[in-house]
Amino acid sequence: MLPEHHPRYPSPAKLNLDLRIIGRLPNGYHALESIFTLIDLQDTLCIVPRSDGQIVLHTPTPNVPDEQNLVVRAAQSLRDNAATPGHGADIWLEKRIPMGGGLGGGSSNAATVLMVLNDLWQCGLDTAQLLELALPLGADVPFFIFGRTAFARGVGEQLQPIDVPQQYYVLVRPDVHVSTPAVFAHPDLPRNSIGHPHPTYQNLQPLRNDMQAVVLQNYPEVQAAFAELQQYGTPRMTGSGSCLFLTCEQPQQAQHIRQQLSDRWQSWCVHSLLTHPLFGMISNR
Ligand code: C5P
Repeated sequence: MLPEHHPRYPSPAKLNLDLRIIGRLPNGYHALESIFTLIDLQDTLCIVPRSDGQIVLHTPTPNVPDEQNLVVRAAQSLRDNAATPGHGADIWLEKRIPMGGGLGGGSSNAATVLMVLNDLWQCGLDTAQLLELALPLGADVPFFIFGRTAFARGVGEQLQPIDVPQQYYVLVRPDVHVSTPAVFAHPDLPRNSIGHPHPTYQNLQPLRNDMQAVVLQNYPEVQAAFAELQQYGTPRMTGSGSCLFLTCEQPQQAQHIRQQLSDRWQSWCVHSLLTHPLFGMISNR
């Protein structure tokens, strides 16, 4: 439950419309090329400054100690790098984005905290400085600071805008948590896709996700959802899964497909967002 009478800040999920693994970096991470887009499935945060330097998360995440929680770590990082020790915050989080689904919920929450507290604490960091604080928190966090449909390189930190048609998606959540490090470490994962020097939505067709085959092979629950969605089109996975989506031109088509799906899966009809919904609410964007 969020407290009443405090401003509420949105924290949208992402989809990877395309994801290719180009190679491995010296630090063991994988070099990727990926199209990221924001969608209108959102968490909500309530963030209120306090003056005793404490970062207090009032809605802890089950199985995630506060000191590992990206929300807390984002606030601490901004305080330690750009504010004074007296800057603190009370934070409440209302989750709608499932965890372990490849939707970037935790990364999005961290980005929202960085952007909102930069504003509330009047740190005055520009986007480039926020992007720098974002990357050590997780490879997906910079995209949410960038805040619009992006083609990402590196581990996800080299971002450029890319035009993607306005689309609707049927999003399905197989009831299983996929471990991102385990998928990245899998011996069968392809790691030699060809990079695109001049990517466009058109010349990346057909879109694909290089992590999908390994996840379908190793998680029967994801395979079952994939088989059901295949009746209606060509499903793709987002991130390292487990969520799958189908692309639709019209919202009615997405709603129709969703109605046919078995109630075995949690599902949503979502659409892409042109820009981060926070951009209209904070002063420095
Ligand atoms: O950055 P994030 O915490 O989301 O990554 C989780 C794990 O996934 C990393 O510890 C790493 O093992 C793996 N990973 C990778 N290459 C990437 C992103 C993540 O190998 N580009």
